[in-house]
Amino acid sequence: METELRQKLIDLAIQARQWAYAPYSKYTVGAVVLTDSGKIYDGVNIENAAYPTTICAERVAIFKAVSEGEHHFKTIVVATEDGGNPCGSCRQVMAEFGMDSEVIIVDTTGKVTLTTTVAELLPGAFTHKHLI
Ligand code: THU
Repeated sequence: METELRQKLIDLAIQARQWAYAPYSKYTVGAVVLTDSGKIYDGVNIENAAYPTTICAERVAIFKAVSEGEHHFKTIVVATEDGGNPCGSCRQVMAEFGMDSEVIIVDTTGKVTLTTTVAELLPGAFTHKHLI
């Protein structure tokens, strides 16, 4: 991917954190997905007083994209204050839409702390191949 587009995705993920709804953990997360068709969707974590109802930023971004007909992502960027990695549930949702997607983790300064793929994040994933 061109450096300019990659930087744009990183900037958008960092910016998105401002819309996170994280009154309980105060740990704000921004995520951005770049679809195969070139569209960009962002997402933030949305917490709830009933804690398990909380949803992560990655899944919000992915679900926004999927609800508009996008089923595969070239790149997924996740921004947290300290470069925290995606949780297991988000890795499973990422796996549903492609093991080959690139995943870039950044901290709030824009420093890339990890560049990887969904396959590397969730080796041996349970996927559609087990069902179809
Ligand atoms: N969180 C995410 O948004 N993505 C992850 O992959 C890990 C955790 C959020 C959920 C919760 O609002 C806060 O971070 C603390 O767990």
